[in-house]
Amino acid sequence: MKGNRKWKKGKADYYYSLAKKEGYRSRAAYKLMQINSKYKLIRRGDVVIDLGCAPGGWLQVSRRIVGREGFVLGVDLQKTDPLPYENVKTLILDINSEEAPERILMEIPRKADVVISDASPKISGIWEIDHLKSVDLARASLKIASKTLKPGGNFLVKVFHGKDFKDFLLEVKEKFSFTKSTKPKASRKDSSESYVVAKGFKSS
Ligand SMILES: C[S@@+](CC[C@H](N)C(=O)[O-])C[C@H]1O[C@@H](n2cnc3c(N)ncnc32)[C@H](O)[C@@H]1O
Repeated sequence: MKGNRKWKKGKADYYYSLAKKEGYRSRAAYKLMQINSKYKLIRRGDVVIDLGCAPGGWLQVSRRIVGREGFVLGVDLQKTDPLPYENVKTLILDINSEEAPERILMEIPRKADVVISDASPKISGIWEIDHLKSVDLARASLKIASKTLKPGGNFLVKVFHGKDFKDFLLEVKEKFSFTKSTKPKASRKDSSESYVVAKGFKSS
């Protein structure tokens, strides 16, 4: 009964159906499209690092925007089915690991124009725990962005709301000239997630 309800909810979801119809690997693809059309984070020819990339919806959207001249590197704990483009690579890697920034730098042709992160912890259902784990992943993403972005580069990261959200936002503000938190239309209303958009990396 419960499973049946869940199935119905999934089938009824507009972005879920649209992703199936348009050949995107996740409904999350529409979140990136909506954020990018408003904030212009990714442009043609860019080098993009996508943290927590599986199953690959954001990789597809990023590749479409950067085109043939750009480069996209996806990173995830899980294997991502390869995309049929020479300029999209994926790495199996824990973004919390000490070695992550160096491993990533070895795979990209030059410092990145944009780092995007949709990394999510396994949901426990306990709001506070999920929030803290999400902030840990967001901090790991910020650390990687700080080591891999070119000066002036852009950053996008998902964070679940909770008590440490404001502190995290301040940490991002210190490193970028423009920072804003946003929730795209494709993000479920009942989800506690929002996205931090940051532009103009101030390299130290
Ligand atoms: C919501 S999914 C990302 C969806 C993706 N943006 C898309 O459009 O297909 C979150 C991903 O974060 C990954 N993840 C969670 N913790 C991670 C970690 N420590 N290092 C790397 N990836 C991680 C998960 O394996 C999962 O694939």
